[in-house]
Amino acid sequence: MDGNGRWAQRRWLPRAAGHRAGIGVLTPLLETAGEAGVETLTLYAFSTENWARPEQEVSTLMKLFLETAREKVPELNERGARLRFLGRREGLPASVLEALTEAEERTAANDRLDVYIALNYGGRSEIVDAARRIAADGLAPEEVDEATFASYLYAPEVPEVDLVIRTSGELRVSNFLLWQIAYAEFYVTETLWPDFSAEEFVHALESYASRSRRRGGV
Ligand code: IPE
Ligand code: MG
Repeated sequence: MDGNGRWAQRRWLPRAAGHRAGIGVLTPLLETAGEAGVETLTLYAFSTENWARPEQEVSTLMKLFLETAREKVPELNERGARLRFLGRREGLPASVLEALTEAEERTAANDRLDVYIALNYGGRSEIVDAARRIAADGLAPEEVDEATFASYLYAPEVPEVDLVIRTSGELRVSNFLLWQIAYAEFYVTETLWPDFSAEEFVHALESYASRSRRRGGV
């Protein structure tokens, strides 16, 4: 969900105002995802690299995550969305973890839409953490194939990613779901995240639907 800072900058507002505006996109997005029959949606909220931002911005973001959890979880729950956390729990403030765990428990039985919140998430750290746990479990080399490896990822039930939507025109992967995006299609838009609309989301889904995916075949 990139471009919050630039959105604010263009309006001579503090970056926090951009992050706040970005939260406004969530409700229409979730509504549209449900209507369009999307089964899984992952929101990249905070990466393992984002700790490098000024301390004040990091704490503002953490505060916003808490606020958003309080505000949006009842709504998500009503929509039948199941919320799951994706990332490294170590390093996150206890209050944020608590809110996430509570949201996971509260929505656990829902089955209309799976929503993953990638927080303190890094694709490389996910792979490293999986490798560590495989080693800790004492697996023999010949036991480690792609399916076994995938079962050690943070959320093994996360399906392979079909479509990555990248806002603010950046042409990079930024450590997002590295394992799961192996065959993902990309939709890149210049739109800054706070301006990303339900209409454009539908447009992205249509763009995806019109492509022919060959997965290395012909
Ligand atoms: C949101 O956008 C990303 C996070 C919530 C960490 P940015 O804060 O990266 O916005 P830009 O790139 O400065 O425009
Ligand atoms: Mg950015």
